[in-house]
Amino acid sequence: MVLKADSNGLKLYSTSEFRIQSSEFKVFPLNLDPLPLPSQLQCFLMLYLELTSYNNEREVEFGEVEQMNAEMMWGLLHPAIAVVIVYPLIGMVVRYALQIRQRRLEMASGKKSKVPPVVGREHVAIGRWLAAWVVGITLLALGYIIVTKSFIHKHLWQEDQTQAIILIVLFVFTCAATWLLYQAKTKAWRATFVTLSSMGIILLGCQDVVFRRGFEWYWSHYYLGVASAILMLISLAILPEIYKDKTQAWRRLHIALSVFAFLLFVGQGITGARDLFEIGLYIDPNTL
Ligand code: HEM
Ligand code: HEM
Repeated sequence: MVLKADSNGLKLYSTSEFRIQSSEFKVFPLNLDPLPLPSQLQCFLMLYLELTSYNNEREVEFGEVEQMNAEMMWGLLHPAIAVVIVYPLIGMVVRYALQIRQRRLEMASGKKSKVPPVVGREHVAIGRWLAAWVVGITLLALGYIIVTKSFIHKHLWQEDQTQAIILIVLFVFTCAATWLLYQAKTKAWRATFVTLSSMGIILLGCQDVVFRRGFEWYWSHYYLGVASAILMLISLAILPEIYKDKTQAWRRLHIALSVFAFLLFVGQGITGARDLFEIGLYIDPNTL
């Protein structure tokens, strides 16, 4: 059995000699044939991990940890706020949502409900905070990526000042549109600001420096995150309609969108943790 590995990948051949060719053209002849098949496969896996690991080309001692720089530390702000503030808020909002529903169904069937009427008000009060924090951490993540990758690493201000100014204006405009959505009273203004703030988030996310994982869009932290932020903005925009509508159509729409948003939040927890791990594994080839 022969394993041939280089920067293009790994190939396995069934001959008696086992050779590994790394990207540095080191050749190690090894004969694995005397070993039983499980051991051969174990060797194969270990060598594969060794040859494809991020520190393959670097001399890193076992147990050695690289120092985090300031840029990496700022990058932790977004996941830290998500874990410490956003997810507890999601828990509270969902708990109140279930109680509102229980109360409404019990009242509708003529029973007396033990759930106090205040749960509706609490759900909305915390829901408003939740929407603000979700949009906030989305803008924080996009802002961080654009500032570090475009402004700092690619010297955007010096290279293309117009583009730099457009990005700054777009960022301020998106924050302003979200704030105005909170203030808007009439249907027309709410529709205007929910469209403008969603557009702002989408346009900021369209920058080349944002890693969108288009090849796996259904499992992309970017697409799931932008969708959940827009769903929160929609919940805010339709808030008065949920109360006014006697046909319950807006309430049903809110439930459907929010259940979907909840699934997206679960996805964000999983894909965000994966991305933190992946970023740790990634090393910029230019720095080698
Ligand atoms: C993960 C997020 C959310 C979930 C899962 C969720 C789910 C629900 C559910 C299940 C109900 C009860 C519907 C019923 O009567 O059967 C409800 C009611 C409501 N939600 Fe949400 N919601 C979320 C976020 C929000 C946000 C961000 C807002 C806006 C700020 C909001 C505003 C409302 C309003 C106004 C009601 C009606 C309350 C009442 O009847 O007193 N929700 N929500
Ligand atoms: C409500 C939950 C969350 C939302 C709406 C959200 C949204 C976003 C968005 C829009 C981005 C920018 C696009 C991208 O690079 O993928 C991003 C980046 C990121 N998020 Fe989240 N996120 C959430 C939760 C989390 C959690 C829980 C973690 C980790 C535990 C996390 C870790 C990250 C990481 C590591 C990045 C990449 C930053 C970089 O490229 O330097 N996120 N997030």
